[in-house]
This record gives sequence, structure tokens and C-alpha cells, in this order.
Amino acid sequence: MTITTRAPLPSPAEHAVSSRTAGEAIPRRFLMCRPEHFDVTYAINPWMDPTKPVDTDLAVAQWEVLRATYESLGHRVELIQPVEGLPDMVYAANGGVVYDGKAMAASFTFAERQPEGAAYHAWFDEAGLRPTIQAAAQNEGEGDFLVVGRLILAGTGFRTSVAAHHEAREFFGAPVISLELVDPRFYHLDTALAAIDDQTIAYYPLAFSAASNAILRQLFPDAIVATAADAEVLGLNAVSDGYNVVLTDKAVHLHERLRERGFNPIGVDLSELLKGGGSVKCCTLEVRA
Ligand code: ARG
Repeated sequence: MTITTRAPLPSPAEHAVSSRTAGEAIPRRFLMCRPEHFDVTYAINPWMDPTKPVDTDLAVAQWEVLRATYESLGHRVELIQPVEGLPDMVYAANGGVVYDGKAMAASFTFAERQPEGAAYHAWFDEAGLRPTIQAAAQNEGEGDFLVVGRLILAGTGFRTSVAAHHEAREFFGAPVISLELVDPRFYHLDTALAAIDDQTIAYYPLAFSAASNAILRQLFPDAIVATAADAEVLGLNAVSDGYNVVLTDKAVHLHERLRERGFNPIGVDLSELLKGGGSVKCCTLEVRA
């Protein structure tokens, strides 16, 4: 377990940006990458099996539905040019973190994905975000950094290093809470925890160490707790605008829990992209400018 904050843990309410009530949709700006070159040619997480066939056209069609869903909800979707030979580039969330208009480009764990860092950095730069940096410490962007109100929840254990949590805290000047992931199927924070609104998260407790569970209970006593079945279809890999929550149609319990809490779950089918170990959130980087 790693706690990088020594002061008493803040309550999320103290860190909420606005005083709006939960359940209000806020228009977002998203960066996505069309999966034209998507494939599973190597295995860097337990979901990937290079011997299983991948239907790239179907991946593109499913991804187009996700993009259209965001646009129909009033969100702005921007695109980064896909690069041949980078089959995982569709998972835009991993490209970096944008917070208060500042952008930190990822520094990938595996050689297969390392060139993506420069591509996302260039996009941030061209988009006029300032300042932008290429992170020094190993980190996989919003795969492991999730913004909840003003807090940044940060995963470690499989990909992003604790040094990157420090780097993010210094660069963004934001409180960063380190959380330790313990189950290799949930190798990024965004596979085990979803930011639903400024005060609400959903998560799968068994993906986290005991100490990280204690921290999450303390910070988010009203969190939505996902079942194993929800987690195993990557139901927590969700994107919320504060009211509409876009997630896989297969996470049926999580859809119910969200509805009970007044949110509007919207199911999509990203079965081809699940073969790479990702779902809705993985395909979506939020540009918080
Ligand atoms: N195949 C990719 C990898 O293992 C999947 C990344 C999923 N992205 C995410 N934000 N969890 O790196």
C-alpha cells in the first residue's frame, strides 16, 4: 500500500469544484482515436490473446456508436490520427491527463505502446493546452489517473508508478490519492473504479489492497459498489457526464445501481475492444481545459 498524503484525508465534498447537485449533465470535451489499426498482436494484460481473431471493421463500427452516443449527448469529440503499427492507440485514455488546461502526456510501461506518448503529446500541444509535458515517470494517463471533483485518484501496482503520482501532484498542483491495485485483470485504475460525478464513484473492492479499500471507504462512504460480474465485463470502465453514464451493456447490476441513484446508464457494445482489455473509458480521454 502506498499513501502519499500525510495530512488527514480530505472529504470529497471539500474538494468539489461547484456546488451543483449530483445528477446534472455537464457537456464534456473528449479525445478519441478511431480503431482503424486495432488488433491484438501481443499480450500485455490478461484479456489479450493474440491467437483469437479480431474483427477490425466491427471494432470500428462499435467505436462509431460510442462516438455518436457522446455527440448525441451534446459532448464534443475530437480525434487524434491513428498510427499504423500502434494497435492499442484506440485506448485514448492512456495518452495522458488533462486537468485545468494543463496536459501531461503518458510514459508507457511496455515498448509496444511507448511511441503513443509522443503522438498524444503532439496532439495536446497542437490543441493549445499549456503547459504540456512528457511525463518523466512511468504512467498510463487516465488509465490510472481519475479526476473526481478536484481530487485525482491514482492507481499503481501494474502500470503507473508511485513516482508518477508525485509528478502529477507537482505538475497539476492537485491532491493525488494513491490507490494500490492487486488483481492483474484490473491492471488500470479505470478498469476497477469509475468517476460518476464530483462526489460519487463506483468501484470493485476486490481489485484494491485492504489499505486502499479503507481509504476509498473513508473518502466515498456512499460509493456504488460493483459486483464481480459487473467488474468482469469491465463495467467500471465507464464515462459519466454527471448524469448520463456510458458503459458496457453487459454490466446489468451496475446499470440497476446507477438507475437507483438517479443516474442514466446508457449501454453500448464494445465486444471487439474488450479483446484488447478495454471498454468505454479506455477509448475516451477527457480534455479538461
Ligand atoms: N491493451 C491495452 C493495454 O494493455 C489496453 C488499455 C486499456 N486502457 C485503459 N484505459 N484501461 O495497455
